[in-house]
Amino acid sequence: MRRPWLVTSLIVASMVCATPAVAQSDAQTVTSAGGVVAADQPTASRIGARVLADGGNAADAGVATLLALGVVNPFSSGLGGGGFCLYRPASTGEVTVLDFRETAPSAATADMYVVDGEVKEEWMVRGGKAVGVPGEAGGLWALSYKFGNQPWETLVDPAHELASDGYTVHQLLVDRLKKGAKKLKKRPKLAAAFQEADGSWVDTGDTLQRPGLARTLKRLRDDGPAPFYEGQIADAIVAAVNEAGGIFSRDDLASYSIEVREPVQGTYRGKTVFSMPPSSSGGTAIIETLNILEGYDMSRFGRSPLGVHLTVEALKHSFADRAGWLGDTDFVDVPLQRLTSERYAAELRSKIKRDTVLPPKAYGSKAPLPDDHGTTHVSIIDRHENMLSCTSTINLSFGSMVFVPKWGLIMNDEMGDFTAQPGVPNNYGLVGTEQNVVAPGKRPLSSMSPTLVLNEDESPFMAVGASGGPAIITGTLMAMLNTIDFDHSPSRAIEAPRIHHQWLPYTLFLEDSMGMRDALEEKGHDIEVRPAWSNVQMVVESKQSDGTFTGVSDPRKMGAPAAADAVSQEASQ
Ligand code: GLY
Repeated sequence: MRRPWLVTSLIVASMVCATPAVAQSDAQTVTSAGGVVAADQPTASRIGARVLADGGNAADAGVATLLALGVVNPFSSGLGGGGFCLYRPASTGEVTVLDFRETAPSAATADMYVVDGEVKEEWMVRGGKAVGVPGEAGGLWALSYKFGNQPWETLVDPAHELASDGYTVHQLLVDRLKKGAKKLKKRPKLAAAFQEADGSWVDTGDTLQRPGLARTLKRLRDDGPAPFYEGQIADAIVAAVNEAGGIFSRDDLASYSIEVREPVQGTYRGKTVFSMPPSSSGGTAIIETLNILEGYDMSRFGRSPLGVHLTVEALKHSFADRAGWLGDTDFVDVPLQRLTSERYAAELRSKIKRDTVLPPKAYGSKAPLPDDHGTTHVSIIDRHENMLSCTSTINLSFGSMVFVPKWGLIMNDEMGDFTAQPGVPNNYGLVGTEQNVVAPGKRPLSSMSPTLVLNEDESPFMAVGASGGPAIITGTLMAMLNTIDFDHSPSRAIEAPRIHHQWLPYTLFLEDSMGMRDALEEKGHDIEVRPAWSNVQMVVESKQSDGTFTGVSDPRKMGAPAAADAVSQEASQ
């Protein structure tokens, strides 16, 4: 039997510390040479920064931050889900991809969500049939084992303490509970984890304990991920998923494996971009879009209607290709080299018109969106310039809402990212082809786009990524364009209003403060104004190139970054 947590590669040796510069910060940014963590929840960022201050590297900090996020933002990510990480140790300069995405259970079939020709959408996103085999516990253990230098227990302890001693309920959790209240109340065991004895929801400022999750984290701390895949926790997951209508077997968990992959790679204005390969579409779409845009003088266009129009047209090509070509490369062939080549980008660029749009079928080379309140992203660059970019998810808010009470686990609804019927939009309005239909053991197509960018001299420039379903791709891309082409400060690069276009639906989504609606309508775009639903976390080389990095967390998700030297200064005061 393959044990996913037995990853047999080098452990990165710890390195001698340089004295870090004192951190400077405001609400959403922090600048330091001592290591910076940008996560979408302040307590989680601080836990990561504490690990860095204690001598841990970016991999150690990433593990501790992601485990903490699973406790404090339980609607977004956690041990019932999965994710992707890119890691670049400064010592080798090689970027490794850890893929701990969920897989379809062995009893899954291509038509499992179709009854009498109709897609049962609810089955894809709520209840047992929506759950994919989770990879988070094994993935984080592999990240620590392969690249970390701190004892595993010290990385799990902070999350365990939050769950067992309790943490202060924050506004975002209250908002998400309110928004999901109707559905949560139909799952009383899950709802009870967030309710007072009288049945009212916990409120801002309350202390919330998660005893079941604390039990799980203690097991994870003491025994590693084994109990998730072949022990007591595995049994409880199978029972809870199947009781909720699922099709899990013990062997689905026992045979789950984490994959180590090569990143997709491209260049943009002299910088090298590494991003997530399939089973995510994110890296391919970002590199294809950047390749198209590199042929335009984007810095001259700035955020003008023409600049936005060209970005949207490039995105439509990439998303059309996403729909047509992308899927899990362990199961289907994907022409990755072609899609990420400059030659192909030039071909697509030649079709783009500056004053108007094309019919939908003219994009790519094959023929209303829900809010994604699941998913979380962490970007870290430590004082040795090790780089980490991880995105983790349970998919929609509170995942499938299948709960494993004894162990406090909220199971993902990642099966919703498969294509139930080619050509029929999924819960994100995304269409797909046979490339992304369900098959046993297959990973559903993701948009998660953990990305690392290097300068021409191969020094670290940026670790970036986002949450937000397909808008992850546009949110990540816009943070890169705003920084590289438009020379925005890190905070402005993240705060600036965003667009989103995913080819189908054939609608350009604009954040209200973007303006330029009339000018874009004149070019033929069908526009809907709405808040952006991507949340970007970025750590980027500071403009003064003085060895400091600036972390910025997206105010849209109330995040805040943290610096290692700031948390250790606070601790010594
Ligand atoms: N579940 C969202 C994604 O993977 O894109």
